[in-house]
Amino acid sequence: MKIAILGAGLMGAALGRSWAAAGHHITFAYSRSAAKLDRLARETNGAAGSVREALRDADAVLLSVHWSRIEDVLDQAGPLADQIILNCCVPLNLSNDRLLFGPTTSGAEHLATLRPLARWVSCFNTIPSESFAPVRHQRPEPRPQVLMYGDDPGAKMVAAGLINDAGFDPLEAGGLRTGRYVEPFAMVTAVLAYGQPGGPALTYRFTKL
Ligand SMILES: NC(=O)c1ccc[n+]([C@@H]2O[C@H](COP(=O)([O-])OP(=O)(O)OC[C@H]3O[C@@H](n4cnc5c(N)ncnc54)[C@H](OP(=O)(O)O)[C@@H]3O)[C@@H](O)[C@H]2O)c1
Repeated sequence: MKIAILGAGLMGAALGRSWAAAGHHITFAYSRSAAKLDRLARETNGAAGSVREALRDADAVLLSVHWSRIEDVLDQAGPLADQIILNCCVPLNLSNDRLLFGPTTSGAEHLATLRPLARWVSCFNTIPSESFAPVRHQRPEPRPQVLMYGDDPGAKMVAAGLINDAGFDPLEAGGLRTGRYVEPFAMVTAVLAYGQPGGPALTYRFTKL
């Protein structure tokens, strides 16, 4: 599958490496450093380019920018009609200590209003970037889960495949409005990953008894 990664930071780089290891072709875009995009492209046998170049022929897109960059990256991306977009962004303020949406709406729903023709799926927003390499290398069993939610069943099927390819099980969690609850939960995962001993490579798995 051809995957465009918009935002080559911690999340974009980590997921790009996991998906490249699973055989996907990655095009990295949207960084202030062209050298960084080139380095990631070389490392993953992929490509680097502008946002528009990355979107050309992409079967799926990962949106992985800081929330403050959403408007800019969407401007560069255009209407994104029919494009499957996996959104891992948490709608945080500049100091990363306050959610900008909720509790009666969410970043996920806001994105869908900004680009209503795109096929949005939210996932990976509850997984610290440091978890992807250990999951890729250690292949823990049972596999950790990733909460996944959206209003487009076909887009969710594609996202579920990509979640599997990164070494996780998709956990179907309903429509985009689930973002109202998941985005605060993402903050909990950050507290557990970065605020407690043991390192940030945190995963989770829910069990119904
Ligand atoms: N990190 C995590 O563990 C984690 C976990 C779950 C969800 N998330 C969410 O995932 C998204 C990405 O997180 P991240 O940690 O990967 O972020 P990051 O490392 O800061 O990377 C964000 C990307 O946006 C670009 N960017 C930032 N400021 C920019 C600016 N002023 N102009 C142009 N480009 C700019 C960065 O460019 P440069 O390459 O130039 O820096 C980078 O490519 C965020 O919404 C975050 O809330 C993160």
